[in-house]
Amino acid sequence: MSNLKKIILAGGTGQIGTALIQVYADKTNELIVLTRGTERKVKNISYVNWTNIKKGNYSNYFNDVDAVINLVGKNVNCRYTEANKKEIIDSRVNSVRDISQAFKRASTEPKLWIQFASSTIYKSSEDKPMTENNNEIGTGFSVEVCKIWENTFNIETSEFKNTRKAILRTSMVLSKEEGVYPRIRKMAKFGLGGIQGNGKQVVSWIHEDDVTGMIQNIIENSTLEGPFNCTAPYPITNKIFMSELRKSLGIKFGLPASKLILEIGAFVISTETELVLKSRYVLPERILEAGYTFKYPTIESAYQSLI
Ligand SMILES: NC(=O)c1ccc[n+]([C@@H]2O[C@H](COP(=O)([O-])OP(=O)(O)OC[C@H]3O[C@@H](n4cnc5c(N)ncnc54)[C@H](OP(=O)(O)O)[C@@H]3O)[C@@H](O)[C@H]2O)c1
Repeated sequence: MSNLKKIILAGGTGQIGTALIQVYADKTNELIVLTRGTERKVKNISYVNWTNIKKGNYSNYFNDVDAVINLVGKNVNCRYTEANKKEIIDSRVNSVRDISQAFKRASTEPKLWIQFASSTIYKSSEDKPMTENNNEIGTGFSVEVCKIWENTFNIETSEFKNTRKAILRTSMVLSKEEGVYPRIRKMAKFGLGGIQGNGKQVVSWIHEDDVTGMIQNIIENSTLEGPFNCTAPYPITNKIFMSELRKSLGIKFGLPASKLILEIGAFVISTETELVLKSRYVLPERILEAGYTFKYPTIESAYQSLI
Protein backbone atom coordinates (compact mmCIF):
# COMPACT_ATOMS: atom_id res chain seq x y z
CA MET A 1 0.00 0.00 0.00
CA SER A 2 1.40 3.38 -0.97
CA ASN A 3 1.70 6.02 1.75
CA LEU A 4 -1.14 8.47 2.20
CA LYS A 5 -0.55 12.08 3.13
CA LYS A 6 -3.46 12.83 5.40
CA ILE A 7 -6.39 10.92 6.91
CA ILE A 8 -9.08 12.35 9.20
CA LEU A 9 -10.72 9.91 11.59
CA ALA A 10 -13.81 11.45 13.15
CA GLY A 11 -14.68 9.49 16.30
CA GLY A 12 -11.42 7.59 15.93
CA THR A 13 -11.09 6.88 19.66
CA GLY A 14 -13.57 3.97 19.75
CA GLN A 15 -13.62 0.31 18.77
CA ILE A 16 -13.11 0.65 15.00
CA GLY A 17 -11.02 3.83 15.23
CA THR A 18 -8.51 2.07 17.46
CA ALA A 19 -8.14 -0.69 14.85
CA LEU A 20 -7.77 1.86 12.05
CA ILE A 21 -5.11 3.81 13.94
CA GLN A 22 -3.08 0.62 14.30
CA VAL A 23 -3.21 0.11 10.53
CA TYR A 24 -2.73 3.69 9.35
CA ALA A 25 -0.44 5.35 11.95
CA ASP A 26 2.63 4.09 10.09
CA LYS A 27 1.20 4.40 6.60
CA THR A 28 0.08 8.02 6.77
CA ASN A 29 2.11 11.19 7.15
CA GLU A 30 -0.58 12.86 9.21
CA LEU A 31 -3.53 11.34 11.06
CA ILE A 32 -6.12 13.69 12.56
CA VAL A 33 -8.60 12.32 15.10
CA LEU A 34 -11.70 14.42 15.80
CA THR A 35 -12.85 13.88 19.39
CA ARG A 36 -14.83 15.31 22.31
CA GLY A 37 -11.75 14.55 24.41
CA THR A 38 -8.62 16.56 25.16
CA GLU A 39 -6.40 17.83 22.40
CA ARG A 40 -2.98 16.18 22.17
CA LYS A 41 -0.36 15.05 19.70
CA VAL A 42 1.06 11.54 19.74
CA LYS A 43 3.77 11.15 17.08
CA ASN A 44 1.98 11.87 13.76
CA ILE A 45 -1.53 11.68 15.30
CA SER A 46 -3.24 14.95 16.23
CA TYR A 47 -6.31 14.67 18.47
CA VAL A 48 -8.47 17.71 17.79
CA ASN A 49 -11.56 18.80 19.72
CA TRP A 50 -14.86 19.41 17.89
CA THR A 51 -15.34 22.80 19.58
CA ASN A 52 -12.32 24.15 17.75
CA ILE A 53 -13.45 22.62 14.46
CA LYS A 54 -16.91 24.18 14.81
CA LYS A 55 -15.33 27.59 15.53
CA GLY A 56 -13.51 27.32 12.21
CA ASN A 57 -10.07 26.87 13.79
CA TYR A 58 -7.48 24.51 12.32
CA SER A 59 -8.88 24.92 8.79
CA ASN A 60 -5.48 23.79 7.46
CA TYR A 61 -6.26 20.30 8.79
CA PHE A 62 -9.02 20.03 6.18
CA ASN A 63 -6.85 20.90 3.16
CA ASP A 64 -5.43 18.14 0.93
CA VAL A 65 -7.11 15.29 2.77
CA ASP A 66 -6.78 11.84 1.15
CA ALA A 67 -9.60 10.31 3.17
CA VAL A 68 -12.03 11.28 5.90
CA ILE A 69 -13.55 8.35 7.77
CA ASN A 70 -16.50 9.25 9.99
CA LEU A 71 -17.10 6.81 12.84
CA VAL A 72 -18.94 9.11 15.24
CA GLY A 73 -22.09 7.85 16.92
CA LYS A 74 -23.37 7.33 20.43
CA ASN A 75 -23.25 3.58 21.06
CA VAL A 76 -26.68 2.01 20.47
CA ASN A 77 -26.09 -0.48 23.28
CA CYS A 78 -28.32 1.49 25.66
CA ARG A 79 -31.97 1.83 26.67
CA TYR A 80 -33.94 3.72 24.01
CA THR A 81 -35.14 6.50 26.33
CA GLU A 82 -36.12 9.81 24.71
CA ALA A 83 -32.83 11.37 25.87
CA ASN A 84 -30.74 8.48 24.50
CA LYS A 85 -32.68 8.42 21.22
CA LYS A 86 -31.96 12.12 20.74
CA GLU A 87 -28.26 11.62 21.46
CA ILE A 88 -28.07 8.62 19.11
CA ILE A 89 -29.45 10.73 16.26
CA ASP A 90 -27.77 14.05 17.10
CA SER A 91 -24.28 12.56 17.47
CA ARG A 92 -24.50 11.05 13.98
CA VAL A 93 -26.20 13.95 12.17
CA ASN A 94 -24.12 16.69 13.82
CA SER A 95 -20.79 15.01 13.10
CA VAL A 96 -21.64 14.69 9.39
CA ARG A 97 -22.71 18.37 9.29
CA ASP A 98 -19.69 19.63 11.22
CA ILE A 99 -17.25 17.77 8.97
CA SER A 100 -19.02 18.94 5.85
CA GLN A 101 -18.99 22.57 7.09
CA ALA A 102 -15.26 22.31 7.82
CA PHE A 103 -14.60 21.09 4.27
CA LYS A 104 -16.74 23.87 2.81
CA ARG A 105 -14.39 26.34 4.60
CA ALA A 106 -11.26 24.52 3.38
CA SER A 107 -9.53 25.12 0.07
CA THR A 108 -9.94 21.54 -1.20
CA GLU A 109 -12.58 18.83 -1.01
CA PRO A 110 -11.57 15.49 0.51
CA LYS A 111 -10.55 12.92 -2.11
CA LEU A 112 -12.62 10.24 -0.34
CA TRP A 113 -15.25 10.27 2.43
CA ILE A 114 -16.05 6.92 4.02
CA GLN A 115 -19.16 7.24 6.15
CA PHE A 116 -19.96 4.55 8.68
CA ALA A 117 -23.59 3.44 8.82
CA SER A 118 -25.40 0.30 9.93
CA SER A 119 -26.72 -2.84 8.26
CA THR A 120 -29.65 -2.64 10.65
CA ILE A 121 -31.21 -0.39 7.99
CA TYR A 122 -32.53 -3.60 6.35
CA LYS A 123 -35.67 -5.34 7.48
CA SER A 124 -35.51 -8.28 9.84
CA SER A 125 -35.21 -11.40 7.68
CA GLU A 126 -34.52 -15.07 8.35
CA ASP A 127 -34.76 -16.34 4.78
CA LYS A 128 -34.05 -13.54 2.32
CA PRO A 129 -30.52 -12.11 2.24
CA MET A 130 -30.15 -8.36 1.93
CA THR A 131 -27.57 -7.13 -0.56
CA GLU A 132 -26.80 -3.57 -1.59
CA ASN A 133 -28.83 -3.98 -4.80
CA ASN A 134 -31.59 -6.31 -3.63
CA ASN A 135 -33.02 -5.50 -0.23
CA GLU A 136 -35.94 -4.22 1.79
CA ILE A 137 -35.58 -1.35 4.24
CA GLY A 138 -36.99 -2.11 7.69
CA THR A 139 -39.09 -0.12 10.15
CA GLY A 140 -38.68 1.08 13.73
CA PHE A 141 -36.40 3.45 15.62
CA SER A 142 -33.02 1.95 14.69
CA VAL A 143 -33.96 1.87 10.99
CA GLU A 144 -35.11 5.51 11.17
CA VAL A 145 -31.70 6.40 12.67
CA CYS A 146 -29.97 4.70 9.73
CA LYS A 147 -32.17 6.49 7.20
CA ILE A 148 -31.61 9.92 8.76
CA TRP A 149 -27.86 9.19 9.05
CA GLU A 150 -27.43 8.21 5.37
CA ASN A 151 -29.77 10.98 4.10
CA THR A 152 -27.84 13.61 6.03
CA PHE A 153 -24.60 12.29 4.55
CA ASN A 154 -26.01 12.32 0.99
CA ILE A 155 -27.40 15.86 1.36
CA GLU A 156 -24.36 17.31 3.15
CA THR A 157 -21.88 15.91 0.63
CA SER A 158 -23.89 16.63 -2.51
CA GLU A 159 -21.83 19.78 -3.16
CA PHE A 160 -18.55 17.84 -3.08
CA LYS A 161 -18.28 16.99 -6.76
CA ASN A 162 -14.64 15.87 -6.56
CA THR A 163 -15.11 13.59 -3.56
CA ARG A 164 -15.52 9.83 -3.86
CA LYS A 165 -18.17 8.79 -1.33
CA ALA A 166 -18.72 5.39 0.29
CA ILE A 167 -21.20 4.33 2.94
CA LEU A 168 -20.32 1.28 5.05
CA ARG A 169 -23.49 -0.44 6.27
CA THR A 170 -21.73 -2.24 9.06
CA SER A 171 -22.76 -5.37 10.95
CA MET A 172 -21.66 -6.33 14.46
CA VAL A 173 -17.88 -5.93 14.58
CA LEU A 174 -15.92 -8.61 16.44
CA SER A 175 -12.76 -7.36 18.19
CA LYS A 176 -10.71 -9.07 20.88
CA GLU A 177 -10.90 -6.34 23.52
CA GLU A 178 -13.86 -4.12 22.62
CA GLY A 179 -17.48 -4.34 21.50
CA VAL A 180 -19.70 -7.42 21.67
CA TYR A 181 -17.10 -10.23 21.65
CA PRO A 182 -15.53 -9.74 25.12
CA ARG A 183 -19.06 -9.54 26.57
CA ILE A 184 -20.34 -12.76 25.00
CA ARG A 185 -17.07 -14.53 25.86
CA LYS A 186 -17.60 -13.55 29.52
CA MET A 187 -21.24 -14.73 29.38
CA ALA A 188 -20.18 -18.08 27.89
CA LYS A 189 -17.56 -18.53 30.63
CA PHE A 190 -20.34 -18.00 33.23
CA GLY A 191 -22.39 -20.76 31.55
CA LEU A 192 -24.74 -18.27 29.84
CA GLY A 193 -23.61 -18.92 26.27
CA GLY A 194 -26.75 -20.70 25.05
CA ILE A 195 -29.14 -19.64 22.30
CA GLN A 196 -30.82 -16.25 22.65
CA GLY A 197 -34.54 -16.13 21.89
CA ASN A 198 -35.44 -19.01 19.56
CA GLY A 199 -31.89 -19.02 18.11
CA LYS A 200 -33.22 -18.85 14.54
CA GLN A 201 -32.45 -15.16 14.01
CA VAL A 202 -29.60 -14.63 11.56
CA VAL A 203 -26.46 -12.97 12.91
CA SER A 204 -24.44 -10.86 10.49
CA TRP A 205 -21.02 -10.03 11.83
CA ILE A 206 -17.54 -8.98 10.66
CA HIS A 207 -14.04 -9.33 12.13
CA GLU A 208 -12.37 -5.95 12.78
CA ASP A 209 -9.46 -6.92 10.48
CA ASP A 210 -11.94 -7.20 7.62
CA VAL A 211 -13.42 -3.79 8.45
CA THR A 212 -9.95 -2.29 8.08
CA GLY A 213 -9.32 -4.56 5.07
CA MET A 214 -12.48 -3.35 3.32
CA ILE A 215 -11.53 0.26 4.03
CA GLN A 216 -8.06 -0.30 2.56
CA ASN A 217 -9.66 -1.87 -0.51
CA ILE A 218 -11.97 1.11 -0.97
CA ILE A 219 -9.10 3.60 -0.48
CA GLU A 220 -6.95 1.81 -3.07
CA ASN A 221 -9.63 1.18 -5.70
CA SER A 222 -10.69 4.56 -7.10
CA THR A 223 -13.75 3.10 -8.85
CA LEU A 224 -15.46 2.04 -5.62
CA GLU A 225 -18.21 4.30 -4.28
CA GLY A 226 -21.75 4.17 -2.90
CA PRO A 227 -23.15 1.82 -0.26
CA PHE A 228 -21.25 -1.30 0.82
CA ASN A 229 -22.46 -3.95 3.23
CA CYS A 230 -19.58 -4.20 5.68
CA THR A 231 -20.23 -7.73 6.82
CA ALA A 232 -18.70 -11.22 6.52
CA PRO A 233 -19.90 -13.40 3.60
CA TYR A 234 -21.16 -16.21 5.87
CA PRO A 235 -23.80 -15.00 8.32
CA ILE A 236 -25.12 -17.75 10.63
CA THR A 237 -28.07 -18.32 12.95
CA ASN A 238 -27.81 -17.24 16.58
CA LYS A 239 -27.80 -20.95 17.50
CA ILE A 240 -24.61 -21.51 15.48
CA PHE A 241 -23.13 -18.16 16.57
CA MET A 242 -23.38 -19.26 20.21
CA SER A 243 -22.46 -22.93 19.72
CA GLU A 244 -19.30 -22.00 17.75
CA LEU A 245 -18.42 -19.52 20.50
CA ARG A 246 -18.68 -22.26 23.14
CA LYS A 247 -16.72 -24.66 20.94
CA SER A 248 -13.90 -22.12 20.44
CA LEU A 249 -13.68 -21.62 24.22
CA GLY A 250 -13.93 -25.34 25.05
CA ILE A 251 -17.21 -24.84 26.94
CA LYS A 252 -19.68 -27.70 26.66
CA PHE A 253 -22.90 -26.15 27.98
CA GLY A 254 -24.63 -22.79 27.71
CA LEU A 255 -27.91 -21.88 29.41
CA PRO A 256 -30.41 -20.65 26.79
CA ALA A 257 -31.97 -17.20 27.29
CA SER A 258 -35.66 -16.97 26.34
CA LYS A 259 -37.11 -13.73 24.98
CA LEU A 260 -38.61 -12.99 28.43
CA ILE A 261 -35.31 -13.56 30.23
CA LEU A 262 -33.58 -11.35 27.65
CA GLU A 263 -36.17 -8.63 28.22
CA ILE A 264 -35.60 -8.71 31.96
CA GLY A 265 -31.82 -8.87 31.49
CA ALA A 266 -31.86 -6.03 28.97
CA PHE A 267 -33.81 -3.87 31.43
CA VAL A 268 -31.36 -4.64 34.23
CA ILE A 269 -28.27 -3.83 32.16
CA SER A 270 -29.94 -0.90 30.35
CA THR A 271 -29.98 -2.09 26.78
CA GLU A 272 -32.49 -3.26 24.14
CA THR A 273 -33.33 -6.86 23.17
CA GLU A 274 -33.52 -5.84 19.50
CA LEU A 275 -29.73 -5.93 19.43
CA VAL A 276 -29.79 -9.74 19.79
CA LEU A 277 -33.28 -10.68 18.59
CA LYS A 278 -33.51 -8.90 15.22
CA SER A 279 -32.67 -11.22 12.32
CA ARG A 280 -29.95 -9.54 10.27
CA TYR A 281 -29.34 -11.50 7.08
CA VAL A 282 -26.91 -9.29 5.16
CA LEU A 283 -24.39 -10.16 2.43
CA PRO A 284 -21.35 -8.14 1.23
CA GLU A 285 -22.09 -8.54 -2.48
CA ARG A 286 -20.43 -5.37 -3.77
CA ILE A 287 -17.06 -5.73 -2.05
CA LEU A 288 -16.86 -9.40 -3.12
CA GLU A 289 -17.58 -8.33 -6.71
CA ALA A 290 -14.76 -5.79 -6.33
CA GLY A 291 -12.40 -8.68 -5.59
CA TYR A 292 -11.95 -8.27 -1.83
CA THR A 293 -10.89 -11.50 -0.09
CA PHE A 294 -12.09 -11.77 3.50
CA LYS A 295 -9.40 -12.71 6.02
CA TYR A 296 -12.05 -14.21 8.33
CA PRO A 297 -15.02 -15.29 6.17
CA THR A 298 -16.46 -17.82 8.65
CA ILE A 299 -17.38 -17.46 12.30
CA GLU A 300 -15.09 -20.41 13.18
CA SER A 301 -12.07 -18.61 11.68
CA ALA A 302 -13.02 -15.34 13.41
CA TYR A 303 -13.43 -16.96 16.84
CA GLN A 304 -10.11 -18.80 16.45
CA SER A 305 -8.33 -15.50 15.91
CA LEU A 306 -10.04 -13.84 18.89
CA ILE A 307 -9.48 -16.39 21.68
N1 LIG B 1 -18.84 -1.61 16.41
C1 LIG B 1 -19.88 -2.19 15.84
O1 LIG B 1 -20.18 -3.39 16.08
C2 LIG B 1 -20.72 -1.41 14.85
C3 LIG B 1 -21.74 -2.06 14.14
C4 LIG B 1 -22.52 -1.32 13.25
C5 LIG B 1 -22.29 0.03 13.07
N2 LIG B 1 -21.29 0.63 13.78
C6 LIG B 1 -21.10 2.07 13.60
O2 LIG B 1 -19.75 2.33 13.24
C7 LIG B 1 -19.29 3.53 13.88
C8 LIG B 1 -18.00 3.23 14.62
O3 LIG B 1 -18.23 2.15 15.52
P1 LIG B 1 -17.40 2.04 16.89
O4 LIG B 1 -17.82 0.76 17.52
O5 LIG B 1 -15.97 2.32 16.68
O6 LIG B 1 -18.07 3.24 17.71
P2 LIG B 1 -17.86 3.64 19.23
O7 LIG B 1 -16.57 3.12 19.70
O8 LIG B 1 -19.08 3.30 20.04
O9 LIG B 1 -17.87 5.25 19.10
C9 LIG B 1 -17.06 5.94 18.18
C10 LIG B 1 -16.77 7.32 18.70
O10 LIG B 1 -17.93 8.15 18.64
C11 LIG B 1 -17.76 9.22 19.57
N3 LIG B 1 -19.01 9.39 20.33
C12 LIG B 1 -19.62 8.48 21.12
N4 LIG B 1 -20.74 8.98 21.65
C13 LIG B 1 -20.84 10.25 21.20
C14 LIG B 1 -21.77 11.31 21.41
N5 LIG B 1 -22.82 11.16 22.20
N6 LIG B 1 -21.55 12.48 20.77
C15 LIG B 1 -20.48 12.65 19.97
N7 LIG B 1 -19.55 11.70 19.75
C16 LIG B 1 -19.73 10.52 20.35
C17 LIG B 1 -16.64 8.82 20.54
O11 LIG B 1 -15.48 9.61 20.30
P3 LIG B 1 -14.94 10.68 21.42
O12 LIG B 1 -15.32 10.15 22.76
O13 LIG B 1 -13.46 10.69 21.19
O14 LIG B 1 -15.59 11.95 21.09
C18 LIG B 1 -16.36 7.37 20.15
O15 LIG B 1 -15.02 6.99 20.30
C19 LIG B 1 -20.40 4.01 14.81
O16 LIG B 1 -21.06 5.08 14.20
C20 LIG B 1 -21.31 2.80 14.93
O17 LIG B 1 -22.68 3.15 15.11
C21 LIG B 1 -20.50 -0.05 14.65
